[in-house]
Amino acid sequence: MDFEYIYLEEIDSTNKFAYDLGKQCKRNLVIVSKIQTSGKGRMDRTWISKEGGLYFSILMDISRVNPIEKINFLASVSVLETLKYFSNENFQIKWPNDILCNDKKICGILTELNVLKGYFVLGIGLNINNKIESSIKNVGTSLYCLEKENFDIKQIFEEFIKNFKVNLYMDNNAILEKYKTYSKTINSNVNLILPNKTVFGRVVEIDFNGIYLLNEKEISIYDVGDCIHLR
Ligand code: BTN
Repeated sequence: MDFEYIYLEEIDSTNKFAYDLGKQCKRNLVIVSKIQTSGKGRMDRTWISKEGGLYFSILMDISRVNPIEKINFLASVSVLETLKYFSNENFQIKWPNDILCNDKKICGILTELNVLKGYFVLGIGLNINNKIESSIKNVGTSLYCLEKENFDIKQIFEEFIKNFKVNLYMDNNAILEKYKTYSKTINSNVNLILPNKTVFGRVVEIDFNGIYLLNEKEISIYDVGDCIHLR
């Protein structure tokens, strides 16, 4: 799998840029920008993207990832393995695909699909060396930024691409097993915030269908939401 790379100084959103190129039938592109003026987060949030952080989007054909739900698992495992390579801090994945460093969010992932045209855009925002006040607006998530050492963004990006390409060809069970090893959410009690309500339960399983919440002997599966981990 070979990618073509586009490096930008500034853009509104690398996801938006890649999405537009997808409509023009472009594929296997990676867009990287030093700054985003209107970075997009999950659930219509904003991702503040000042200089120093790593912001990029990968544009690919949907057929390259089967099932397509696997993409978030692939991406979060690849980010986590990349960070572990450069730092000894404690990294974990909070379902669905937030990467935590010492329990605070260091990386967000936003995947957008265009089913009609058959492509997806995988957007990744990593707080490294960017002075964050808050990368996400309108949400009380604790954020983290690795800036103790002067990380080389280029090296981190290249390591991610290397890991992503390896994980892309791993079978589904292997990716799931890796994901669960790194998961903070599995076997935890959580409040899951859904668009219209909040549900409570113990997370007994995670797979490409979502999380399996056990509450009063009943298991329900959810594929969206924000997890609040309970002690
Ligand atoms: C989240 O809310 O956790 C997801 C944040 C995703 C941010 C990245 S930064 C690169 C790409 N371009 C965007 O506009 N968003 C994603």
